[in-house]
Amino acid sequence: VQGQSTLTLHTEQAKTKINKEIYGHFAEHLGHCIYGGIYVGVDSDIPNIRGFREDVVGALQDMKIPLLRWPGGCFADTYHWKDGIGPQHKRPSIVNVHWGGVTEDNSFGTHEFLDFCELIHAEPYINLNVGSGTVQEASEWVEYVTSSNESPMTKLRKENGRDKPWDVKYWGIGNENWGCGGNMTPEYYADLYNRFATYCRGNLYRIAGGPSVDDYNWMRVIMQKTSLHPYLVQGVSLHNYTFTTSWTDKGSATDFDEGGWFSVLQNTLKMKTLIERHSSIMDQYDPNKRVGLIVDEWGDWFNVEPGTNPGFLYQQNTLRDALVAGINLNMFNNHADRVKMANIAQMVNVLQSVILTKEKEMVLTPTYYVFKMYSVHQDATMIPVNLNCDDYEYNGQSVPAVSASASVKDGVVSITLCNLNPEKAESIDLTLTGQEFASASGQVITSPNMNDYNDFGQNEKVALKAFDVKKPKNGKLSVELPSKSVVLVQLK
Ligand code: AHR
Repeated sequence: VQGQSTLTLHTEQAKTKINKEIYGHFAEHLGHCIYGGIYVGVDSDIPNIRGFREDVVGALQDMKIPLLRWPGGCFADTYHWKDGIGPQHKRPSIVNVHWGGVTEDNSFGTHEFLDFCELIHAEPYINLNVGSGTVQEASEWVEYVTSSNESPMTKLRKENGRDKPWDVKYWGIGNENWGCGGNMTPEYYADLYNRFATYCRGNLYRIAGGPSVDDYNWMRVIMQKTSLHPYLVQGVSLHNYTFTTSWTDKGSATDFDEGGWFSVLQNTLKMKTLIERHSSIMDQYDPNKRVGLIVDEWGDWFNVEPGTNPGFLYQQNTLRDALVAGINLNMFNNHADRVKMANIAQMVNVLQSVILTKEKEMVLTPTYYVFKMYSVHQDATMIPVNLNCDDYEYNGQSVPAVSASASVKDGVVSITLCNLNPEKAESIDLTLTGQEFASASGQVITSPNMNDYNDFGQNEKVALKAFDVKKPKNGKLSVELPSKSVVLVQLK
């Protein structure tokens, strides 16, 4: 066991809501995320509900998925929504130019996406096409989905079998418009944003395409130009992926040593600086924090599994990914005053997925169990914490050994803790003043090896297990975090 760390919970300062949308997910028309992963069609011999995989639907409901972003990603700025409505056999096929050049038959379109969201009880978040689409096309999509007026678009919706509008609040206006979404300058995109946002009418939560990683100039220009018409912007996105070393050296998802473990966790922690620096730019234009920072793409991005299509971005998911998820979610919770939504990329079979599928089989990944464990924070009130902990040192470099966040909901205090050290347990003293608790319980995710993962046809190696926690005495409680673990402590 390492030295003694301390965590003080300032329950008296709890006031900021942790939006459930921070636990959001992202599903793009990419590899086997939609087709095979979510949707198999009604004629499939894989058990399905109206074409949606029954096993995946059940797992997502159990995990309490609150929100799903669709249809991309880079795909969104090539997607023409009218190709994906009406009788499926009449829908045109297109080529998915970004992801493997495969044929997209458009059998999963607007109705299927919104039906799926209803089935899994998730808020839908639709990303409009700015890169290759028109203002009219975007405006008509919003009208088709959300309007209750008598209009050509609502008539078309009714002809396609849906009388009532859907309640879709979240709309993204373009994706990565500095790159695959049109290679624009921030000035040009911000002007386009204002134009598109003007014609996407209704009581919507409009999300501007924000910066890549640390492009602070992009954030500044978007905030400056959109703040001229504040009612047009409710959120600005941030995309940040974690690689082993860099974009050109992503590393393997499963085959790594302690160097790969350390480097991925060290890179994960950079999210804090990104959130804080982007937030401080946002503060200059929006001091009351009305505009949300929407981390709508985050997660680990490794080399594809050997022998799989490089355009499909399929990777396995180990205990290391569980730590990455736990650390990021703690950072989002602790910045819930500005971070209003975050969507891990991507939900099934792509990048840091919670679910992997292979024909009839389904695997729940270590990341899945972190989302399930952390679901207690959804719509809870964040408790500010003060953490003093040891360092985890590797090869002359160091990171804090512990990551933590806490919240309270319906009288239950939930504390999530990660021990980044793969070799040593970490003992942590918790202090909670002004409250007595009648009971305590816990859960843990860990495994004997840092690169353990769950695989098809095998017993699960990494899953949620019960964790013994003593009841606090006089507001004090000691917890021993196993090495390389994610832990939940609940007090009530
Ligand atoms: O998630 C994969 C891709 O990463 C998305 O399509 C794009 O937005 C980002 O570059």
